[in-house]
Amino acid sequence: DPVYLNGRFLPLAAAGISPLDRGFLYGDGVYELIPVYSRRPFRLDEHLTRLQATLAGIKLTNPLDLAGWKAVVEQLIVTAPWDDQSIYLQVTRGADNKRDHPFPPPTVPPTVFAFASPLVTTPAEVRATGVAAITVTDQRWARCDLKVISLLANILARQQAVEANCAEALLIRDGYLKEGAASNIFVVKGGVLLAPPKTQLMLPGITYDVVIELAKSGGQPLEIREISENELRGADEVWMTSSTKEILAITTLDGQPVGNGPNAGRPGPLGEQMWQWYQDFKNTVM
Ligand code: PDD
Repeated sequence: DPVYLNGRFLPLAAAGISPLDRGFLYGDGVYELIPVYSRRPFRLDEHLTRLQATLAGIKLTNPLDLAGWKAVVEQLIVTAPWDDQSIYLQVTRGADNKRDHPFPPPTVPPTVFAFASPLVTTPAEVRATGVAAITVTDQRWARCDLKVISLLANILARQQAVEANCAEALLIRDGYLKEGAASNIFVVKGGVLLAPPKTQLMLPGITYDVVIELAKSGGQPLEIREISENELRGADEVWMTSSTKEILAITTLDGQPVGNGPNAGRPGPLGEQMWQWYQDFKNTVM
């Protein structure tokens, strides 16, 4: 299947970039990941708006306009063999002829790369049990609102989770839950849905926005505010959300069951409800 590189569609094996590319040397670039259902991109405008915000945040000119990006995404979707896909977009600050920290001269073009892969969804049996997570100290930088390709702290946290046989690492900074290593986190306590606020210390998730919209339109009591580590540990339900995981219950945290009573360690009713609302929403807009 062809990939997109710098204005051309070509086979992956023929797509080459310079070892001096600043994405390779410094992680100096940005990315997006867009889910595609039945060959239709989900929330494409929102993803492209976040891409623009991240590019502005690292002072990199958007190489394509909205129509240009949509054409690339559409071309990848129609040529890929799968109905459900994930489209990855990446822009780096390009390759100069030397290694030097400051921005290259404006004559150096950015490197633009995009490709489609099959969308890997969560099997029903995993959804039925939920997944395990650990908590770790958030060691990322202070602009976690930007979707940049330098993901080393996220990768180290996620690997720690994998080595503990867990699906996700929840990032705690100064005693407060920010998000997961590759997801946003919601908490339910006493029938109220709690969501950490959008600050520079959290990625503004596209799925997060959909969940909040669905909670509001469904009359679900909702509080958008900081969640302490203690509140997290005392939660009735904990969910992770992302473009690929959708809404997935976290049922074990640091080896302890999430929740109390007969439902402890099992996915809770509000998470089930939200997952259903999300499916219905997908089907109506798709
Ligand atoms: N990750 N927070 C972080 C740190 C993330 O990396 C992601 C997404 C999210 C959820 O954002 P969204 O709902 O827009 O997918 C939150 C993607 C899927 C990834 O890196 O693969």
